[in-house]
Amino acid sequence: MAPINIKFKSTGAYLPERVLTNQDLEKIVDTSDEWITTRTGIKTRRIAADEEATSDMAYEAAKIAIKRADMSPEEVELIIVGTISPDMFFPSTGCFVQDRLGAKNAVAMDINAACSGYIYSLVIASKFLVSGTYKNALIIGSEKLTSIVNWEDRATCVLFADGAGAGILVPSNGGSKILAFDLGSDGSYGKDLCVPAGGSRNPATKETVDKKMHSIVMNGNAIFKIAVNKMRETFNKSMAMAGVTADDITLLIPHQANLRIIESLRNFLKLPKEKVYVNIDRYGNTSAASIAIALNEVHEQGIIKRGDIIGLAAFGGGLTWASAILEF
Ligand code: COA
Repeated sequence: MAPINIKFKSTGAYLPERVLTNQDLEKIVDTSDEWITTRTGIKTRRIAADEEATSDMAYEAAKIAIKRADMSPEEVELIIVGTISPDMFFPSTGCFVQDRLGAKNAVAMDINAACSGYIYSLVIASKFLVSGTYKNALIIGSEKLTSIVNWEDRATCVLFADGAGAGILVPSNGGSKILAFDLGSDGSYGKDLCVPAGGSRNPATKETVDKKMHSIVMNGNAIFKIAVNKMRETFNKSMAMAGVTADDITLLIPHQANLRIIESLRNFLKLPKEKVYVNIDRYGNTSAASIAIALNEVHEQGIIKRGDIIGLAAFGGGLTWASAILEF
């Protein structure tokens, strides 16, 4: 695979203020801090305010990224928002963000690839940049998953959370680049992780509401096993295409779905703990926002620098999976 000459000019993130702890969840469903910690690695997560929608969080993250890139909103040419919890079916969350930013000259769209959404957005945006179609792209992962969670289902409500991350991408002179990427999908497992109603298959009725069909349903065990395998497979593929080995990776930023899935990938790659970024303990699973938030954190804190080899790997509903190796 030929490298794609693009770079992150800047990043940004937004985490809602309200913190929901495992102890708080003990009061809502039959669960315990001990179960959640040992089975998932999550201790706390952020919950958006009632009036705060996905585009509001996306806007906050984007504003920071645009400012850090020393750009004006009018200069943004492409906006891609990865989300599975859009403000509305339509208009796209990207269009809402465009309007709030005043990014009048940008084309805006959403990508629905669940937890793989940020890597999908990265790859799609990069293709527009290297073809010369656009000079820059604002990519965002933003989710208000707590708006589509069944708060009576202890197997899912303890996992999912809210937040947003963003990045400004521009063409590079070859120093920074995407060395390789791998994207994949398998729709045959779609129903193992989905929101069954609200779309054209099961439009909203009193019955769909009563049966809680507008919230996330998940076959956790099945998803867990496929996630473990696919994360290994996709990351191996990207490493092979990039011509790197695990030893070359400065930092691996995996999608934060479950600490056990992250640990399984880390052990498979024989990476030491300090080479795998983990923030699931603080933020839970924020789907498309998770890698975007993590990438901003490591960038902001100076954990990564130009020239480092960064691995990204994600897996999510669809099913979808994605990985990329960046020379940052
Ligand atoms: N608190 C206490 N007990 C819980 C619980 C909770 N929050 N959620 C489930 N349980 C119970 C189950 O009811 C079950 O009880 P039983 O044995 O009496 O039937 C028991 O814990 C074991 O459930 P199981 O589903 O086998 O647990 P698990 O070890 O597989 O962990 C997940 C459950 C959801 C954490 C795990 O399957 C997972 O992480 N799956 C992948 C999820 C994911 O990543 N999804 C998003 C993809 S991006």
